[in-house]
Amino acid sequence: MIPGPVKVAPRVLRAMSKPMISHRSAEFGAIYDECRDLLKEFFETENEVVVMTGSGTVGMDAAIAGLVGREEKIVTISNGKFGERFTEIGERYGKAMPIAFDWGTPINLDRVEAALETGAKAVAMVHNETSVGLTNPAKEIGNMTRKHDAIFIVDGISSIGGNQFKTDEWGIDIAITGSQKALAVPPGLAMVSVSSRSEARFLERSASYYADLKAHLKSARKQPTQTPYTPAVPLFFALQEALHMAKEEGFESRRSRTAMQAGAVRAAADALDIKLFPQINEFSPYSNTVTAMKIPEGISDDRLRGGMKKQGVVVSGGQEKLKGKIFRIGTMGVCSSGDILRTIQTLELVLAKEGKLPNRGAGVEAASKVLGV
Ligand SMILES: Cc1ncc(COP(=O)(O)O)c(C=O)c1O
Repeated sequence: MIPGPVKVAPRVLRAMSKPMISHRSAEFGAIYDECRDLLKEFFETENEVVVMTGSGTVGMDAAIAGLVGREEKIVTISNGKFGERFTEIGERYGKAMPIAFDWGTPINLDRVEAALETGAKAVAMVHNETSVGLTNPAKEIGNMTRKHDAIFIVDGISSIGGNQFKTDEWGIDIAITGSQKALAVPPGLAMVSVSSRSEARFLERSASYYADLKAHLKSARKQPTQTPYTPAVPLFFALQEALHMAKEEGFESRRSRTAMQAGAVRAAADALDIKLFPQINEFSPYSNTVTAMKIPEGISDDRLRGGMKKQGVVVSGGQEKLKGKIFRIGTMGVCSSGDILRTIQTLELVLAKEGKLPNRGAGVEAASKVLGV
């Protein structure tokens, strides 16, 4: 029950064990074509989508390496670990203008506007900050970037397909996701959508040889459709099958199911008097793909998560400065109501054993109400 890699359905795992095919063959081209088409629906975009072999970070790297030259400015917004990663990448390739907020607190839109007034080629932001369980205002910042004629790069790695994410409507030029999140594929692929507006402003030559979006777009436009270098072929088999599954469920149904499941986790936390970690406001709601909660007083991270793990339920801890302070439950992909209830029940069991639970059963009760089971 961690926020990625998530559980993978048996039919997706089985798809990976098919015999290898050439990545320059018509068979591979047909798989890649279908994935690209379905990913457009998944991203809610008319833009082209390419699939890169590498984890989600390769997509973040590719976007900045291909767009921002050494002397060019990029505004990087952060309120958690992954926003900070954008700042590090921005500093590596260009001139980063970081706008940092305390982890888990909402972005102040005025500060972003003020930074944009000083001129920047691009803005990079994480939509769903997995480290703190908070969703950032992509629509509002998308409007600002259009007004200031900057390219808008959004890390939707733990968001797309789980939270509402409207690539085109929100003016997102480059959107990125990773295979191990809402798509419920094993880790190892990054999916990146690219607007023609951003393509027109790509550098003549990307600073990265491997993570070169121009090269990926060029190969994806060949017949048969292909990738510039040998891709992780079994992961493409898995991606195709996982997209079929998501399409069968319906992309919108998957998002609303995910929202309901996160709502169930939040209701259980409330019933058990466990405090949610992030601060929210009208532009920054709680994440529907990961719920970050404060570890209750008097119990250690080790005993809480270790105790749950002994019962067979794995949840995540806090990262870096939040280590030992929060724990996180993921609700992405093919997670079931049973998975949610078992997780809450196990949490209750561990808290009860530690003498930290006066109202045993209240969490499961609250979660089942939201789930309608
Ligand atoms: C929001 C966000 N961005 C970036 C990453 C990094 O992705 P990866 O570990 O696949 O490179 C993650 C991974 O958890 C994430 O949640």
